Parts: sequence; structure tokens; C-alpha cells
Amino acid sequence: KQRVLTGITTTGTPHLGNYVGAIRPAITASQRADVQSFYFLADFHALIKCQDPAQVQQSTREIAATWLALGLNTDNAIFYRQSDVPEIPELCWVLTCMAAKGLMNRAHAYKAAVDANQEAGEDPDYGITMGLYSYPVLMAADILMFNAHKVPVGRDQIQHIEMARDIAARFNHHYGEHFVLPEALVDDNVAVLQGLDGRKMSKSYGNTIPLFLPEKPLKKSINKILTNLLEPGDPKDPDTSPVFQIWQAFATPEQTAAMRQQFAEGIAWGEAKRQLFELVNGQLAEARDRYEALLANPAHVEEVLQAGAAKARAYSKPLLGKVRDAVGIRPIR
Ligand code: TYM
Repeated sequence: KQRVLTGITTTGTPHLGNYVGAIRPAITASQRADVQSFYFLADFHALIKCQDPAQVQQSTREIAATWLALGLNTDNAIFYRQSDVPEIPELCWVLTCMAAKGLMNRAHAYKAAVDANQEAGEDPDYGITMGLYSYPVLMAADILMFNAHKVPVGRDQIQHIEMARDIAARFNHHYGEHFVLPEALVDDNVAVLQGLDGRKMSKSYGNTIPLFLPEKPLKKSINKILTNLLEPGDPKDPDTSPVFQIWQAFATPEQTAAMRQQFAEGIAWGEAKRQLFELVNGQLAEARDRYEALLANPAHVEEVLQAGAAKARAYSKPLLGKVRDAVGIRPIR
């Protein structure tokens, strides 16, 4: 069976970008009988950005509830928390010894942090932890641990999948063929979903629309999407508008063509946003109710995660055994 795997970092509340970029395609893939999917909550990754334990826990609960509310079939898909699989950090160390430092120097997240320091006139490494620097290696361990073939992600993660391939190829070259070379799976209709201000929707920019906002706050949030000063009746450019871009991520091709037409005819911004709210709210309302119910029942969510971890470890333990053997480390007895 083809193995599909993806993860979400447990910082903050899931937003529309995570949904269209990762969660929605992953849930669709999990319904296919010819696919074995692995979905996980990347809580070790969360420690890189968030040193508030309560927040890491809260976000883990929210993201778990999100996947379940959106209809993840946990009979088909293996759904687990990264930190419940101790083989992952162990594999991470072995891979760290195979990962070229020069490759890590090129990682976008690390480079962005260095650039920001330089702009601020600070030491280039100011505030940068080894966690941030090694982030792509931990991600490679997540993927290679289950020999995933395909990794559905948003565009911002493609570089990391390429790094995982590179590390896997090096390992295979040196120690024999143990790892599948993974490929990123990017939904071209979606690319990178824009946030309220037109930049990439991201927790770190504070421009997100949380996925399960109650109706009224959702409407308010959509009303805050940046628009230009064009009046009703003025033709508007869909391709530069986050309103249109978010529309496109939720609409059918026919609905998208119709909205493009309305932009050309000068639809008022308020009206475009009203229609966007109706579309998004219509698709999320039922799942939102299930989400609220799941948040109120953390014991159930935990049970699901523990069952998922047990299934995941049925894969990770034997693979790690082979890796230990391959590199000359005594197997755990
Ligand atoms: P994270 O938590 O930042 O984002 C989770 C997923 O959501 C996608 N995404 C977006 N897609 C479209 N438009 C956006 N505005 C947008 N914002 C986020 C991301 O591309 C990602 O697919 N390092 C990863 C988590 C991770 C992982 C892994 C993923 C850890 N290990 C192994 C795949 C395989 C991350 O921080 O994603």
C-alpha cells in the first residue's frame, strides 16, 4: 500500500490555511482503500516556537479535535501524537549524524531568523536554538520512520520534504536501502492560502482566520480581510485579492468562475465578503459542532490518540530495530 503521512505543529489554533493546505487533502486521502495514512500532532516541533506548556497542551487538544471533527476515519488512518512514539527522536539522532550541516544552513525558517537578526543589527544567531536549526532533521525522522511515499503539505514545507529525501538517500547510500525517498504532494488549486493582510496565512504573522470560529466572529474576521479602495461598480482584480483567493480554496470550479465574473462586474467588497462567509460557514458549520463536543470530552480524544500511538509503534519499532542494526548499535532487547 502507498503510505501517506503528514503532521501539524501544535502551536496555536488551526486556521483555514492549515485546513486547505494539509488537513482537507489528508482526510480525503485517508478515505482511499489503497492508501495507508499516518497523521500526527507534531508536539516536539511545537517546543521550537512555544515554551508555554499549557499552550502546547491546549493546542494539541484543539488540533486533535479538529481532525476528528472533520471526519478523519481512524480505522483507516493512523492518528497519533509525535511524542507518543519514542522511536522518532531516536531515529532523529541517527539521521542528524547523516544530515549535512550545509543543507541545514539553507533551511527557510532558519535563514529567515538569521535575516531578521541581521536587519535588526543583532548577532546573526541571536535567539536561535539548535531546535530551530535541526527542525528539518526531526521532520525527516517523522517521515522516514514510517517510510512514507507521499507527504501532503502546503508549499512552505516542500523544502523540508526535499531535505528528508536528501537525508534518506545519504543513509541508503551508506548503510543500504532502508528508507523510501518521500515526495511532497501539493494541491495546486490552493498554493499558499493568503491571510487577512494578503501575506501567507500564518500563526507567526497573526493574520489567520481560525478554522472553527463561531459564526459571528467568523463573519467579523472575514470582514477584516484587506481590500483596496475600489467602490461598488468598479471592476476588481480577483488575482490580487485575498477575498477571491480564499473563495477559490473553498468553491467548486463553477463557483470560482462565477465569482471571477462578479469581480469583473464590480461586486462590492461587502457583498463579496458576505458570500465568502456563507460559503465557508456552510462548509464548516457541522464540523464545528462536532469540534465543540470533542473539546468537551478530552478523555475520549486521548483514548483515540493512545490507540493511534499503539498502531504507529507497530511500524516504528521494527524499523528502528533495523536501523540500529544497520548502523552498528545494539538492538533493544
Ligand atoms: P505547520 O504546522 O506550520 O502547518 C501545517 C500544514 O499546513 C500547511 N499550511 C498552509 N497551507 C496553505 N496555506 C497556508 N497559509 C498554510 N499555512 C500552513 C503547511 O504547509 C503544513 O502542511 N513542520 C510542519 C509540521 C510537520 C510535518 C512533519 C509535516 C512536522 N513533521 C512531517 C509533514 C511531514 C509544520 O510546521 O507545519
